[in-house]
Amino acid sequence: MAKSAKNQDDTRIIRIFDTTLRDGEQAPGNSMNIEEKLRVARQLQKLNVDVIEAGFPIASEGDFEAVKKVAQTIKGPQIAGLCRSNDKDIDRAWEALKYAGDKGRIHTFIATSDIHMKYKLKMEPGRVLETAIKAVKRAASYTPNVEFSCEDAARTRLPFLAEMVEAVIAAGATTVNIPDTVGYTVPFEYFNMIKYLKDNVPNIEKAVISVHCHNDLGLSVANSIAAVQAGAGQVECTINGIGERAGNCSLEEFVMILRTRHDILPYATNIATDQLTPASRLLTSITGISVQPNKAIVGANAFAHESGIHQHGMLMDKSTYEIMTPESVGLQASSLVLGKHSGRHAFKKRLEELGHDLDDDMLNRAFERFKALADLKKEVFDEDLEAIVTDESREEDR
Ligand code: KIV
Ligand code: ZN
Repeated sequence: MAKSAKNQDDTRIIRIFDTTLRDGEQAPGNSMNIEEKLRVARQLQKLNVDVIEAGFPIASEGDFEAVKKVAQTIKGPQIAGLCRSNDKDIDRAWEALKYAGDKGRIHTFIATSDIHMKYKLKMEPGRVLETAIKAVKRAASYTPNVEFSCEDAARTRLPFLAEMVEAVIAAGATTVNIPDTVGYTVPFEYFNMIKYLKDNVPNIEKAVISVHCHNDLGLSVANSIAAVQAGAGQVECTINGIGERAGNCSLEEFVMILRTRHDILPYATNIATDQLTPASRLLTSITGISVQPNKAIVGANAFAHESGIHQHGMLMDKSTYEIMTPESVGLQASSLVLGKHSGRHAFKKRLEELGHDLDDDMLNRAFERFKALADLKKEVFDEDLEAIVTDESREEDR
C-alpha cells in the first residue's frame, strides 16, 4: 500500500530522516561520543523528526553503544542504524536497534553505479543484485522496518536502478533510498530519475521513496525539493547541513522552504520549526564548528539587517525584508545591526531603546559622529552609541 500521508487540504507530509548522528558525524571534526549523541538525539526528538539515524553500529564499539543508548532512550521518532549488505553488519545493527522495538529501522546499503561496482566492490551487477536481496531478506527477518539504499544511485544506469528497486521491495524493503552520494545531479535530472522509478517500477507504491542528497555542487536542498515534486516521500538531511565533504541537505533549509513556499509546494513536514535554532546551536556547541554567518535560516546574519534602506523598510513593516519570522525558527527577534550603511531611522530607534530621546539638533550631530565611526569599524555596538551620546552631551554643556 502507498505509504505517503496526506492532510485534508491535500498537503503531502514528507518524512524527515535525520542523519546528523551518522552521515553528519562522518564529516571531519564532527564525531560525537555517546553522551553528545544522546544530547543531539533529545533535541531531534523535540524537533519531532520522523527518523533518527543514530550511527553505524559495526563501525566501532562506541558507535554501537551510542545507537543502543539512543534506541533505549528516545521515544517518538524511529531509530535507524546503518549497515553494509552483509550478515555480520546487519546482525550487529539489530543488536543495537532492537531496544527501540517496532521503532527500530535497519538501514542497509550497497553501491549500484558502474563506477562503484567496478572499482570499489569489484562485483558484477548480477552479484550486487543478489547481495542486496539477501541483505534485505536478512534485515526483514528481524523487523518489517527495513530501508535499503542504492549507494551512488544518481550515477546508476536507470534500468539497473529500477531492477534493483523492484527486487529489494519484493525482498521486504519498506523504504528505498535513492542517494545522490557525490552531489553530482541537478534538480531537473534528479526529478526525472525519481519520476522514472515511479513510472517503471511496478511495485513502487509498496515502499516509501527516500532521497539523500550531498552538497558537492551546492544543490542538495534544491535536488531534495525536486525529488519531492517527483513523488519522494522521505528526505534525509542533517542539522546545519553537516556531512561528508560539502555536507548533506540541510534540514532547516528544506523544512523552511516547504513552510515558506507552501503557496506553490503542497508539502509539509512534522517538524517543530521553533526548535531549529536551538538544534543548530546545540550542534555547534558540541562540535565546536560554527556555521557561516550568511547560512540560510540559522546563520548569525539570517535575520540581521544593516543597510539604511532595509532597516527603514523593517521599521515600517517586517514583511518588506523578511520572508519568514525569526520566531518561527526559534529566534527571539531579528536585529538591526548598526554599521556604515545604516540610516537615521535605525540609529534613532536604537538610541531610544537605550533610553536616549535626543532633540533634532543633537540627533543630527550624534548621527554624523556615528557615521564617522562606522567608516572605521565593521559594526557599531551599543557601547559606541553610549560614548557618542555622552560626548554630545558634554559638548552641549560647554
Ligand atoms: O551518501 C550515501 O549514499 C549514503 C548512504 C549510505 C545512504 O550516505
Ligand atoms: Zn550520504
